[in-house]
Amino acid sequence: MSVLDSIKISDDLIRSYWHPIAHTSELQNDRDFIRFEIKDFEVLVINDKGNYVAFDNLCPHRGARFFTEDFGNKIVKCLYHGWSYSRGKVNVAGIKTFQGCSIEHAALNEFKIEACGDLLFFAIEPKTTLQAQLGPDVFALLHKVAGDIDERSDFNRYSFECDWPIALENALEPYHIPLIHTDTLATLELGVGVNEFYGENSIWYSPVENEKVAKRLKSLNRFFAATEPFQGYMSIFLFPFSMISSTYGYSYSIQSFFPGASPDAAFFTSRLYPVKNSEPRYKDMTSGFVQSSAEVNRKIFDEDHQICKRISSKSWSTSPPRFTSALEEKLLHFRSVCAKWNKSRI
Ligand code: FES
Ligand SMILES: [Fe+2]
Repeated sequence: MSVLDSIKISDDLIRSYWHPIAHTSELQNDRDFIRFEIKDFEVLVINDKGNYVAFDNLCPHRGARFFTEDFGNKIVKCLYHGWSYSRGKVNVAGIKTFQGCSIEHAALNEFKIEACGDLLFFAIEPKTTLQAQLGPDVFALLHKVAGDIDERSDFNRYSFECDWPIALENALEPYHIPLIHTDTLATLELGVGVNEFYGENSIWYSPVENEKVAKRLKSLNRFFAATEPFQGYMSIFLFPFSMISSTYGYSYSIQSFFPGASPDAAFFTSRLYPVKNSEPRYKDMTSGFVQSSAEVNRKIFDEDHQICKRISSKSWSTSPPRFTSALEEKLLHFRSVCAKWNKSRI
């Protein structure tokens, strides 16, 4: 068993991939921002007069963090000595006192940003373009999904007390659903379904086999303007750290499991985005459904967290587990991609 492969590869994965970070509806107005913690740094994405900018949440003067909130609407201004950022420029307070230090080069540590429709991704040193990373099928699917989304209705964040691949692998296999999600996800009676693999990404399509639940879900169809939604449960894995799941395409839950500062924690964030209503007057009617989806999702993630906490980081490696169910196929695929990164370091 390799010791803590996850630590070895996490820096490479963080640096080399595009990571979904926000839906444009979350950054609609000038000064809107959202913040993510990843391992030993933080990413801020802001709306700067209509431009989306992603950067390290550290003031380039002496490193004070700009924001400590998860999201909000505020001017980017450092509380320490007042440096600020707007219209793509750092404004240095008392600039005349900075002599002989090329102060004109003061800049944020910016990251790259690209969009798949209304879904924004950030990257540090991506090994490829966002399009190439996702592949044409997943790109087209996400483009459609992002266009269907109305706006964020739930933001849920905490530390998963386990290593990031433990949390991800749990999200990649339905084998645990009956025991862990007895009163939540298991009530849908999800079928075995099919796994589709697109390069390093994968999608699980599963039918809702509880007929009563399926009937009730189908009856909501006319209230939402979903574009050719999958009639069942769909779970998209975007290698390396993100999942997008949906039931009948009425809402989408995006989950990030970013590596934590140590192998006993992963930075978890889930966000729920209902899709647009077919007519604005249906919004009130569907808000109860959206609210209850958010509550059930929170419960599901907590159930996942409680079991993941029991799994030692030492039990994970990039090798396949000795015993594997057919329901753990996506997990094997995930490990094989991680193994390539592990080898590329040696
Ligand atoms: S640390 Fe931000 S202005 Fe000095
Ligand atoms: Fe789960």
